[in-house]
This record gives sequence, structure tokens and C-alpha cells, in this order.
Amino acid sequence: MCGIFAYTGNKGKNASTVLLDGLLSLEYRGYDSAGMYLPESGSVRSTGAVSMLRKKVPKNFKGHSGIAHLRWATHGEPTEKNAHPHQDCSGNVWVVHNGIIENFKELKVGLEANGHTFRSDSDTEVIAHLVEEHLKKTKDFEKAALKALREIRGTYGIALQYKKEPEMVIGARMGSPVVLGLGEGEHFIASDPSPILPHTRTVVFLEDGEVAVITPKKHTIHKLAGDPVKRKATRIDWSAEESQKGGYEHFMLKEIMEGPEVLQNTVRGRLLPDKGLAKLGGLESVTKQLARINRIIIVGCGTAYYAGLVGEYMLEEHVGIPVEVELGSEFRYRKPVINDRTIVLAISQSGETADTLEAIREAKRRGALALGIVNTVSSTIARTTDAGVYNHAGPEIGVASTKAFISQMTALALLTLFLGRQRASATPEQASASRRREMSVVEGRDIAHALQELPQKMQTILDNRKAIEKLAIKYAKSRDFLYIGRKYNYPIAFEGALKLKEISYIHAEGCGAGEMKHGSLAMIDEHFPTMAIVPADSVYDKMLSNIQQIKARKGPVIALASEGDTEVGKIADDVIYVPHTIEMLMPILNIIPLQLFAYYFAREKGLNVDRPRNLAKSVTVE
Ligand code: AGP
Ligand code: GLU
Repeated sequence: MCGIFAYTGNKGKNASTVLLDGLLSLEYRGYDSAGMYLPESGSVRSTGAVSMLRKKVPKNFKGHSGIAHLRWATHGEPTEKNAHPHQDCSGNVWVVHNGIIENFKELKVGLEANGHTFRSDSDTEVIAHLVEEHLKKTKDFEKAALKALREIRGTYGIALQYKKEPEMVIGARMGSPVVLGLGEGEHFIASDPSPILPHTRTVVFLEDGEVAVITPKKHTIHKLAGDPVKRKATRIDWSAEESQKGGYEHFMLKEIMEGPEVLQNTVRGRLLPDKGLAKLGGLESVTKQLARINRIIIVGCGTAYYAGLVGEYMLEEHVGIPVEVELGSEFRYRKPVINDRTIVLAISQSGETADTLEAIREAKRRGALALGIVNTVSSTIARTTDAGVYNHAGPEIGVASTKAFISQMTALALLTLFLGRQRASATPEQASASRRREMSVVEGRDIAHALQELPQKMQTILDNRKAIEKLAIKYAKSRDFLYIGRKYNYPIAFEGALKLKEISYIHAEGCGAGEMKHGSLAMIDEHFPTMAIVPADSVYDKMLSNIQQIKARKGPVIALASEGDTEVGKIADDVIYVPHTIEMLMPILNIIPLQLFAYYFAREKGLNVDRPRNLAKSVTVE
């Protein structure tokens, strides 16, 4: 998600300059629009980068305090109208926000019923109107802000200002990072320390459920419930660039470490676990057509294609619909047999991949219903499809896709739940026409609960990343690597190999474990290691025998196995253990050690992990 930055000071600095320079250092977080508000001068907003905003700032735009924002849109097109800061009806209350207000629709209905007029389609705007509503009674800005925040569900890192108390800025954290900067005669609120560091290295990180109030002379922190918080300040020794990486050496590692939070953001507001249902607002407009589809074609490139292969297993096993997965670059030149009971589902992090985009356009020309699983709101693919599901994974900076991939697989699990349980509401004719199997409420609950437990299980893997680092260093001299898996982990073998080859430049290839004997086994000798993905699933025994075949040729084997496995350690050279989950969600956990392995392997080779040679983050050319 994007970035907030707020300033208040009495040192003669122009808040407009402080804020604009600060936004520049937040641009790495991704952006589609920007804006700022100074109580002494008003607001200015623009689409595009900070440079576009700077051009629109009037000459006499100055002040001692202000709030600013770089937007990564989640609700509402990335237009100037939807850019932050957002205001209330009176123009006295202003807010910038990083995150998602889950209950904004119901809050908005209530506020409109109370006479509030909204200017934008963003979820954020409800915060300003909610504070305004409470101000009518409390007449106290801080109290009104607290009351408003207690009504909000979702994630936020926010900064609020009140025109009538221009020296004060209120910040609050729930699920999105917020840090305070403590200067002499000046204070700051930001999404990360990078915009603060040019002014002070003394910071305080807020925790979830905490609210901060800053003025030029002081700062206070308290809980949303009201009790005060005493927290020692930290001195940041990072450079601005390091602080953009959250203290990690590379964006790639930071984005792998964000995995648990990304899973929560992808699922947020989309599960009804007790009913075993998924709620996908982005598909509401096509629910009727979905009830009668009898074929799904998934289209993607690179990592997105491998996510699609995982989705194929999920959908066929749990929904009973025929699924095929196509490379965007191939599908667009074929003469696919498509009709109005076919879904073509595009998966794309950037939403701009030319091959995937053209494939979707071709599918629509042939009458298919086009859906998208896209991370970038309002991207070309998102706007070309008829409906879809946004990942809400936040901007992904590393060229090698990591957090977007786990979000894509999670979105496919939600789609599986949505379609599988939708059968229950379809008419008998639709059900027979679509040839679906019925997913029971029990099965639906199992999937929903397993999805809710996933972030904690993923955190366990991340907490043990040192063991994976050691393994990567042990194998870092390898020139070749084979990755093998079966069923749900067949795509993970290919994605794991892609991660390794695209950032370490060595020869790494994925292979269906059952396919080895048809050729790849010839490559194996003591210099050619294999990563074998062998969780405790329905094809475990088959995988064990594949590992035996490799060992018989003296090939070194790293096994990726389930916690508690006592067999595989007897035959593999090294074992990485992964917490157990239901079979259809295992790929989401199994890819994490492989992402970490590739990262540490490439770092050991001293390569540019975030920007590997020859590759681009978004391939908008054919
Ligand atoms: C994955 O690590 C690569 N960066 C690349 O394969 C990428 O997944 C592919 O180009 C598709 O990009 P998209 O998801 O933005 O469409
Ligand atoms: N959900 C808000 C919006 O779409 C904030 C997005 C962000 O974090 O930049 O405007």
C-alpha cells in the first residue's frame, strides 16, 4: 500500500517543501496519485508522481504544518478526485490514509443519511466525515477522532488535521505502519522513517491500536481505548534507502517477509468462515453468468502462469469445472474454442503485461466472460476484464515476484470457495448445465479456517529462515538445479526454479516428478542437486520413490517436507520442514522456503537481487 507523511513545526521550515521532499522518498512504495493539505494554504492533488504534484503547487503555498499522501488505489479509480487528502463537508477535517476501510460502505450510507455529501469514490473519505459527525457533539477534535476510529473496521495508517487547530496532527495505526519523528520544535508522522531521516533520526514506531498526537513542541501516544502509552524512542542508523526496505538488505527479502500480512490483506473482508463462504465483491456483477459457466481458461505469464496452474488443481478438485491454463504469449495466437459459458481468467500482478492483455482481448472477441486477478487497481488488464478480484498485496518492487504470487494463489483459493459454494444457490438446470460438483458447507468451512490459519504458519517458516540461508550458502556453487513436485506442487517446482534462475542466473528447471524418468534424470549426477517438494499429501509415497531414483544416481537432494516427517530425512541430504495445512493450500506455504532459498543463493553470489539483469518488472512489450 502507499504512503502518508505529516509535519508540524515552528522552525521556519515551509511545510510544503518538507512534505514534497518527503513524498519523493516514499515513491518506492508505488503510487498512482499524490496530494497534500496545509491548513494555512489549502489542498493540492494530482495523478501520477510527486513531480506532477510539485508542478501544481501554487507559488504562495506555505505553512507550518500539513499532511501528504502517495496513493496506491484500492477503492476508486486513481483519479485526482480520489487522490488524498480527503475532506469533510465543512472543509475543516482532512485525512490521508494507507490501508483499506472494510466497512466504508455501511458508514457512508449512515453519514449520507445524516446529510453528508461525498466528493470521491475512495473508502478513505468516510474517515473525515465520521470525525465531522462526532465533532458536532464533542466539539473536541481529538475526542471526535478517537470516536470515529473506534467505528472503523479494516486497516489504516492515517494522519488527520483540523483547520481550527493547525498546529496539531493526529496519527493512528491499525494494520498499516506508522512511525513518529521527534525533532526539536518539530514532529513528523510517516509510513516509514525514510521521509523523516533528513530532519531527525529519533523515531517512535506505533503499534496497532495506538493513536499519536503531535504539535511542534510535543507528542503523546495513547491506546484507542484512551490509556496512555509510554514508549522509548529509537535512534535510526539506517540510510533513507535502507529504511525504505524496512531495514532489510533488499526489497525482495522485505516482500517475502510481508507474506503473512499479504495473506491477511488478500483475505480481509472476503471470508464467512462459519458459513464456509467467500465474499468477492468484484464478482457480484457477474454472479448469474458464473452460475452457468462450464469451462475456465486461466491465462498468465511467468509467475502468474504458475499461480494459474495451482488454481487449475484447486478448481478441478473442489468445483469440478474443467480448467486449462495457457501462457499469454501462446494463447493469443491460437484459435481457442470459446463460447459464452467459458470464463477466461487473467492473472497479472502489474495488470499491464502485453501478452496477457492481448490474450484477454482475443478471448472477449470470441465471446468469453473475462475475469481478472490483478494487483494494480485500474491497470489496463483490470479495466479490460468484465469483473475480477484485486489482490491487495500492495506494490511489489522486487523484479522477482514473491508476495504477489502467494496472493494470487490465495485469491484462487477464494475463487474456488466462491464458485464451489455458489453451486448451492444455482438452479438445478444451471447446476446440471455447468456439470459442477457440490462443495458442502463442511468442506467450505475447512477451506475457510485453513486460510485463516495460513499467516501464522507462514510466519513460522519465516522465523526459521536462517536454516534456509545456511542451505543456500552450502549449495551456492551449484551450476544446475532440478526442482521436482507433483500435483499442487508441480507448479511450485517450476516457480521455485524460476525464482532461482531469474536472480542467480544459473540453470534451474522445474519438472513433474513423474516426468523425470522420461528425460531429466539423465542430467543427474553428484554435481547436479535437486529440490524435491515432498509434503505429507496424497502423492507422498510417489515423491519418496522419485527421491530414491535420484539418490541412486548420486544426485544431492534437498527435501521440502512436512513438519513431523520421519522418513524423508533418511534418504535426502538436507531437509527443510514446513508446517502442515490442507493439500490445496500447501503450495502457498511451500513456495516460501523456495523464495528464501533463491534469495540467499543469489545474495551469496553477490548479485543484484532486486534488479536482475535482462529483466523488467512489468513486461509491457510483446
Ligand atoms: C516473476 O518473478 C517475473 N517477474 C515474471 O515472470 C512475471 O511474473 C511475469 O512477467 C508476469 O507479470 P505480471 O504478473 O505483472 O503479469
Ligand atoms: N484505500 C485507500 C484508497 O484507495 C488508500 C489506499 C492506499 O493505501 O494508498 O484511496
